[in-house]
Amino acid sequence: MDLSGKHTVVTGAGRGIGEALARAFHDRGARVTLADLAGAPQVAADIGGDRAVGLDADIATERGNEQLIAAAREAFGPVDLFFANAGVGTGTDLSTTEDVWDTAFDVNVHAHRWAAKYLIDEWLERGEGYFCSTASAAGLLAQIGSAPYTLTKRAAVAFAEWMAITYGDQGIRVSCLCPQGVNTAMINGGDGGITGGDVVKAAGAVLEPGDVAAAVVEAIELERFFVLPHPEVADYMQLKANDPERWLGGMRKLQRRVMGA
Ligand SMILES: NC(=O)c1ccc[n+]([C@@H]2O[C@H](COP(=O)([O-])OP(=O)(O)OC[C@H]3O[C@@H](n4cnc5c(N)ncnc54)[C@H](O)[C@@H]3O)[C@@H](O)[C@H]2O)c1
Repeated sequence: MDLSGKHTVVTGAGRGIGEALARAFHDRGARVTLADLAGAPQVAADIGGDRAVGLDADIATERGNEQLIAAAREAFGPVDLFFANAGVGTGTDLSTTEDVWDTAFDVNVHAHRWAAKYLIDEWLERGEGYFCSTASAAGLLAQIGSAPYTLTKRAAVAFAEWMAITYGDQGIRVSCLCPQGVNTAMINGGDGGITGGDVVKAAGAVLEPGDVAAAVVEAIELERFFVLPHPEVADYMQLKANDPERWLGGMRKLQRRVMGA
């Protein structure tokens, strides 16, 4: 897909990876609706011009997604590409409270299907549309120290795969971003930071959000499903598939090393 002139919506665009995605899409000539709990209007104002608008939005409910998509259409017309990027990294082990589990599933998983629900009819009618989501390498592998993050990101990958299988023959494109460490508030102790940001940092290179956005733009232009800004993640997936026992052993070893467990 050529991003020039397209209407793109990015959630979680008030900072971090989402902000970098919005800026990169705008640089490619797209019109960009930025959405976040806070910060999106400021980023849009900083981008400037008449191709960026920032909206306060809470995508943790179905209604929040419906309202966001309606507001985005009002701003720039039909949505060409929707990027479900907002995420939370909260939760730890089996002691995680139910409200934390609920928020993790609402933001990291249900928001994706709620957005898709309010986009799909228009996309099928037009015979095209692009759904992108930010899952995580943790969704392909695992997040040491966080059961909610592991489960919700695995589900996000599964939902993206299901979208690609179900609607791929009808012109709907899907990409799923699965990075390891990225230098944002999420691994640096900000709101909703992954417990064990140190684990993420120890697992491999920590990329800048702009590097991740560049990898996403390339994948969208090629209409490629998986976006793996850390190429070693593909090797880990292969190891996991070929020799699960060895992969589990390696993950336990990493856990011992970084958590002293
Ligand atoms: N940073 C990493 O190492 C890393 C690695 C893999 C995947 N990810 C994923 O990347 C995505 C972006 O995270 P980030 O690293 O930029 O961290 P971040 O914390 O800077 O950004 C996440 C954004 O999502 C927003 N958000 C959370 N709940 C929301 C809600 N209910 N409604 C609207 N917005 C909401 C937050 O306000 C925040 O601006 C997340 O899905 C995260 O899980 C991050």
